[in-house]
Amino acid sequence: MNRKKPNIKNPNGKLGILTPGMGAVATTFIAGVIAARKGIALPIGSLTQMGVIRLGKRTDGRSPLIKDFVPLANLNDIVFGGWDVYADDVYHAALEAQVLDERLITQLKDELQQIKPMTAVFDKTYVRNLSGTNVKKGTSKMDLANQLMEDIRRFKKENNCDRLVMVWCASTEAYIETSEIHQTLESFETGLRTNDERIAPSMIYAYAALKTGVPFANGAPNLTCDIPALVELSHHTKMPIGGKDFKTGQTLMKTIVAPGLHARALGLRGWFSSNILGNRDGAVLDAPENFKTKEVSKGNVLDGIFNPELQPDLYGNIYHKIRINYYPPHGDNKESWDNIDIFGWLGYPMQIKINFLCRDSILAAPIVLDLALFMDLAHRAGMYGIQEWLSFYFKAPQTAPGLPPQHDIFKQLSKLENTLRYLMGEDLITHLGLDYYEELIKEYEALLHLDK
Ligand SMILES: NC(=O)c1ccc[n+]([C@@H]2O[C@H](COP(=O)([O-])OP(=O)(O)OC[C@H]3O[C@@H](n4cnc5c(N)ncnc54)[C@H](O)[C@@H]3O)[C@@H](O)[C@H]2O)c1
Repeated sequence: MNRKKPNIKNPNGKLGILTPGMGAVATTFIAGVIAARKGIALPIGSLTQMGVIRLGKRTDGRSPLIKDFVPLANLNDIVFGGWDVYADDVYHAALEAQVLDERLITQLKDELQQIKPMTAVFDKTYVRNLSGTNVKKGTSKMDLANQLMEDIRRFKKENNCDRLVMVWCASTEAYIETSEIHQTLESFETGLRTNDERIAPSMIYAYAALKTGVPFANGAPNLTCDIPALVELSHHTKMPIGGKDFKTGQTLMKTIVAPGLHARALGLRGWFSSNILGNRDGAVLDAPENFKTKEVSKGNVLDGIFNPELQPDLYGNIYHKIRINYYPPHGDNKESWDNIDIFGWLGYPMQIKINFLCRDSILAAPIVLDLALFMDLAHRAGMYGIQEWLSFYFKAPQTAPGLPPQHDIFKQLSKLENTLRYLMGEDLITHLGLDYYEELIKEYEALLHLDK
């Protein structure tokens, strides 16, 4: 240890994890954490629970589990809550989502039945393919925000929580762009009072969270907290924020494969990505205005990894197309196909085909857990505003204005790990490794008597 460790408050007491949206992802996350605490199943895919981190030199042999290295909330101290436009408790919502085995859900029935969604802030113009009735009524968007703040305070008190975190797990909203109403906290608050149509429900949740001292992460591709007004609020209230869109499925695969092709300076001519999925998320994305939000979030990944302007001979002419099709028979078991046209030495073409038969919510659930635990850690460590070190978990990472996002999953992981090392006062790892060789060479040359 060679650096002063920042002061991190201990994770004493209970952590409440609140999810707007209690559909496939949220119920799979909640059921999974409860199953893990009962020892029924392992929280696989969660870096905080299963991942290790190397500390010091390779020769030191120090690679603890991340949860043993950084002071994270314990799974036994987590309490769950949330909002949904459907009133089903989490037991029934998990059965409805058809992600997890019915036998597993039945084993957890007592706990899951206790968790009931609070009434949602919902606006059909943002998600036209849903029509639930568990919805708040209010005189204005500001009134709805106040009702959410009341829910948050009540939840915290009734569940005796020390801290809360909010992770957006609700449907993808219709595409909108940042406009003047989103520019400052003042104009945003005026918009809340005057019911401005450019303020989406997800923004109202994010506003309520940040106002009540709750860190906020956005798992969907909507703008939500990625607007200057809410970044400003996160600085006023010193709350961590992050987004957008959980990195699962096809984009996860893309950001694993693309950095490898780029590393070998292989050329890329085209990348056609097609998906079929049949869950409620798929039904929502069947509306063109909601699909547009997803398409934009997925679309920038390749440019971010290949940087065409730096190597135009290799990447100056990429054709990138993404298709998502609603196909009910597949349910949550998304299937994706990628056709990748690459070229090598002297321009000779080659092809790669990827057919990923994945389970969307099985990949997303551990991300919800990790984001909640890391956002809580960030808050206890005094970090606030955009948490770019959590880009690892997002398809379209939120960054400070003018800063291009990092999409390469290996660079994202290295940034995340170095942030943890930094927080704990450990040496950052650059993988330079010359120091090992300096020592080895000295020993080796001494053996050969070349050191004289
Ligand atoms: N599953 C994945 O791998 C994955 C990956 C990236 C992003 N996402 C995003 O995560 C979100 C959740 O996905 P899912 O598969 O659980 O979808 P889902 O349709 O099963 O669940 C979303 C839930 O949100 C509720 N909802 C919608 N608007 C709401 C509001 N304003 N307030 C409260 N509740 C609201 C819906 O009623 C629904 O129950 C989606 O936006 C999806 O695009 C999922």
